[in-house]
Amino acid sequence: MSLKKVEFNRYLKDAVEQLPKGAFLCTRDGDKENVMAVGWGAFGSMWGRPMAIVTVRPSRYSFEMIEKTGEFTLSIPFNQSQKDNINFCGSYSGREKNKFEEKSIIKGQGQTLDIPIIENCQLFYECRVITKQALSEEMLNQNIREMYYPHGNYHMVYYAEIIDSYVLEDDYLK
Ligand SMILES: Cc1cc2nc3c(=O)[nH]c(=O)nc-3n(C[C@H](O)[C@H](O)[C@H](O)COP(=O)(O)O)c2cc1C
Repeated sequence: MSLKKVEFNRYLKDAVEQLPKGAFLCTRDGDKENVMAVGWGAFGSMWGRPMAIVTVRPSRYSFEMIEKTGEFTLSIPFNQSQKDNINFCGSYSGREKNKFEEKSIIKGQGQTLDIPIIENCQLFYECRVITKQALSEEMLNQNIREMYYPHGNYHMVYYAEIIDSYVLEDDYLK
């Protein structure tokens, strides 16, 4: 796998289009590592830094990992080739299954952080949390609250600096 560093916003349109369909969020805490699917978030700039904003419900194993380490990677596919893997990573918890044992999920190594990435994706962000905000019942639009939070479990919103960004060098990107 040949990776090339890029500005975080070089392929932003592709990233923003793909995110709602799902991307991989990987974490590592010592010898424990995990991958989940994420779909809600944003990319942009805050405090003069490139930022990724992701939203993770407290019930996720990944939540525990991010709370502990403050770091994660995002691996974003630009096509639907990873659809089944995204659904798999979004259907099982790392508490009950080591998702990296699934043979179609090919684990790679982050370039700056010692956290996995998922190969067969096109764009990779390595992220370090700067701050976070828990969504709360009182502050949420009522329709959204009723639609997405009937059982609470309000997302934690993580604002993370993108400390490294790179793409898979393949025909698509040349
Ligand atoms: C396409 C897709 C997008 C998802 N987006 C999110 C998300 O943004 N935040 C979240 O908390 N869960 C999201 N999920 C659900 C988690 O990926 C799922 O609960 C997963 O099993 C959590 O894994 P973990 O317990 O190993 O962290 C998504 C699932 C899918 C299939």
